[in-house]
Amino acid sequence: MNDWLYKTELAIRRAMPEQLKLVVRAARLLKAPPPSAPTLPQAQLDGCIVLSDRNAMLGHVMKNGVLCELGVLHGAFALQMLAQTQPRELHLVDVTFAGCDPVVLSHSSVRTHQMMTTGFLNACPDGMFDFIYVDADHSYPAVCADIQAAKNKVKPGGLLAFNDFARILRPGLGQFGVHQAVCEFMVDEGWPLAFFCMQGEALYDVALRRPSAV
Ligand SMILES: C[S@@+](CC[C@H](N)C(=O)[O-])C[C@H]1O[C@@H](n2cnc3c(N)ncnc32)[C@H](O)[C@@H]1O
Repeated sequence: MNDWLYKTELAIRRAMPEQLKLVVRAARLLKAPPPSAPTLPQAQLDGCIVLSDRNAMLGHVMKNGVLCELGVLHGAFALQMLAQTQPRELHLVDVTFAGCDPVVLSHSSVRTHQMMTTGFLNACPDGMFDFIYVDADHSYPAVCADIQAAKNKVKPGGLLAFNDFARILRPGLGQFGVHQAVCEFMVDEGWPLAFFCMQGEALYDVALRRPSAV
């Protein structure tokens, strides 16, 4: 979907009355649910470190690196990345920065890109990032598209991380296809799970490490 279409869709969704949104979400249940995610090979999970939350993951991200966040909103996690990893460059991508913390936006390491995530990634050189954090559109097709656009942009040995590693199909909560998209990618491409981060609502974060030899 291009910028214009996505912004129009967002505007329509925001203008819809809550009750109409509920009807639309309930109607989605008429569709058959997607298949279960594939079983992950044990070898790809063996080295995984379990962490108390996503902020703890930042302690394992390279200092002075080149980082990217897809989906920024108010900049809460961007602020954590700046404080904990002191990045050389932090590329922030969102369709709007209207609500983003001015402290984030004015930081000397921050580069903002007001555009669709896939459009941004497709224009980046391969191997540019030490860490990419995927937290934009959580629908299954959108996460698959972000993964395909991001995978070659991570340096060998770098991390591709995801917020809301969940499968949510119930009305009222949106639809989260992050779990399905990430598991399929792991099985298809063999990237190991490096970090699994706990979260109080069971909306976990995970990080995959790009194999060095690929
Ligand atoms: C869950 S919020 C991000 C929260 C932020 N990562 C944090 O943890 O503080 C999702 C953001 O992604 C943006 N977004 C959703 N789909 C997008 C897309 N395809 N391209 C760019 N931005 C997108 C939305 O505008 C929204 O600000």
